[in-house]
Amino acid sequence: TSLAATPGRVLGFTGVPATLTDGITVPPEYRYEVLYPWGAPTGVAASMPAFAPDGSNSAADQAVQAGMHHDGMHFFALGADRGLLVMNHEYTDEQLLNPAGATQWTAERVRKSLHAMGVSVIEVERTPQGWRQVLPSRYARRVHGYTPMRITGPAAGSPRMRTAANPAGDHVFGTFANCAMGVTPWGTYLTCEENFHGYFGGPKEAAAQSTEAQRRYGAIPGAQWVDYWRFDERFDLTKHPNEPNRFGWVVEIDPFDPESVPVKRTALGRKRQESATCMLTKDGRVAVYMGDDARFEYIFKFVSRDKVVPGQDAAARRANRNVLDHGTLYAARYDAGGRGQWLELQHGQGGIDAAGGFADPADVLIHARLAGDIVGATRMDRPEWIAVHPQTGEVYVTLTGNDQRGAPGKPAADAANPRAGNIYGGILRWREDNADAASTGFAWDHFAVAGDPKRPDAGVRYPSADADAFGNPDGLVFDSGGLLWIQTDMSGPGIGKGPMAALGNNAMLCADPSTGRIKRFLVGPNGCEITGCVVTPDRRTLFVNIQHPGETREDGSAAPNSAWPDGKLPGSARPRSATLAVQRRDGGIVGT
Ligand code: FEO
Ligand code: CA
Ligand code: CA
Ligand code: CA
Repeated sequence: TSLAATPGRVLGFTGVPATLTDGITVPPEYRYEVLYPWGAPTGVAASMPAFAPDGSNSAADQAVQAGMHHDGMHFFALGADRGLLVMNHEYTDEQLLNPAGATQWTAERVRKSLHAMGVSVIEVERTPQGWRQVLPSRYARRVHGYTPMRITGPAAGSPRMRTAANPAGDHVFGTFANCAMGVTPWGTYLTCEENFHGYFGGPKEAAAQSTEAQRRYGAIPGAQWVDYWRFDERFDLTKHPNEPNRFGWVVEIDPFDPESVPVKRTALGRKRQESATCMLTKDGRVAVYMGDDARFEYIFKFVSRDKVVPGQDAAARRANRNVLDHGTLYAARYDAGGRGQWLELQHGQGGIDAAGGFADPADVLIHARLAGDIVGATRMDRPEWIAVHPQTGEVYVTLTGNDQRGAPGKPAADAANPRAGNIYGGILRWREDNADAASTGFAWDHFAVAGDPKRPDAGVRYPSADADAFGNPDGLVFDSGGLLWIQTDMSGPGIGKGPMAALGNNAMLCADPSTGRIKRFLVGPNGCEITGCVVTPDRRTLFVNIQHPGETREDGSAAPNSAWPDGKLPGSARPRSATLAVQRRDGGIVGT
């Protein structure tokens, strides 16, 4: 039945106001539990160290505990009341991670930091009292910055992927900067490596030798965020210039087999990977939609060469193990008038060749951004999450914002990115021609041009007159009923001030695309971002991640402005990213 036919049951919850309350606000008819905060044991039977509230857990402890900065997440059901929660840990707050704060780097500190990023697989179950983590669990696993993994697809073995430690260019230690995600039709998890560049470094004087491609991807000596390079040589760009080429990929993980080796899928292209949202094509292949979250970067689509073998059991996962290694990569162009084209990034075509700086197909994937330039893809306002409507196949993407749009020397506003100085972001959507994810043409429009509608010059447009306002949409997930969950990531220092004053803390809203209604569902504690969301198959639980509560500055240099979830007042406890399990008190379907 169509959602439009049942308006009374859709978004029937009590919307919550925009608020700067330091805590979780949900509708009164809902409740929640806090699960798996940073430092909680993952549940690996051999080692379940308790969280040390003073930050004194060792690097070895951290390798089997919840990482920091929970991000993209999925629930893989193991039955009606049990499943695996698989989630990303995006980055670290070095002030909170260590007992003495972000003092002198050491080799141990580098290890702990890399162990605090990556992915967690935890088992959870619903009991009469609520959701709880299963400890220990035979599925429990931490994947982190030192986990051995394979590199496959056309760029594996390329000269640009070879290093002293791995002359074959086909294996790598670890994944980090894991932001948004995807789920394959065969039941594996895709984690996306986003801001990998900031962890590679070297002496500032060496920056002059950086190539154009290295500059475009941002791994430049002297520009590092952390000093890993002084203690782990592979992060030294002057010694191992190819190591950053081995990051910025989509990594496939089989969550059901803790012994499985994660795989970096180079056929999907290298970027500041934000999402990897899968959709079957009409003929049974898989399309993967991806954002590249940086100002003026592109939206990409991969379409596999091979058909997907249906199913989500172990046999299907085995049968589909090479599907993401062969296919075609496209970048999107959004034309005025509401039409768009997927532009193929094919070596040997349209200037993507040796004369253009691409020696072989591997180069096209490793430098997918540069290939996007050559075909004339549209430079976007920071594309983050992508969600596909489960019934209509319409594709929605968050463009989180771009304060540099229209600035001197920067691209001007265009049809798809209509505001100069775009501080609020928005949500754009498209419908593939023929309702087929393999199509190369589509029709697009804006679902929302976000911001505070009371600011007359802000150019704000919502799909309904009574929509709740939001800013900087980032996380974006459809549930199986076609409700769209929108999560926001306004940056810490600006929250509650100036143009963001009316928008409160970061929040999650629920939208019904069939009516255009948008209602605020949850508001988070001070300093947090709301990101990562999944609704269980029975639609009775919504898991959502609270990332970096208390973060007042992105470099962590100011005192946290929250102690959530352990303390009431800032300063009373180290704030910890965590997962919420949100349910209706009457056990009904969430969002209706
Ligand atoms: Fe990690 Fe672009 O958000
Ligand atoms: Ca994000
Ligand atoms: Ca963001
Ligand atoms: Ca964040």
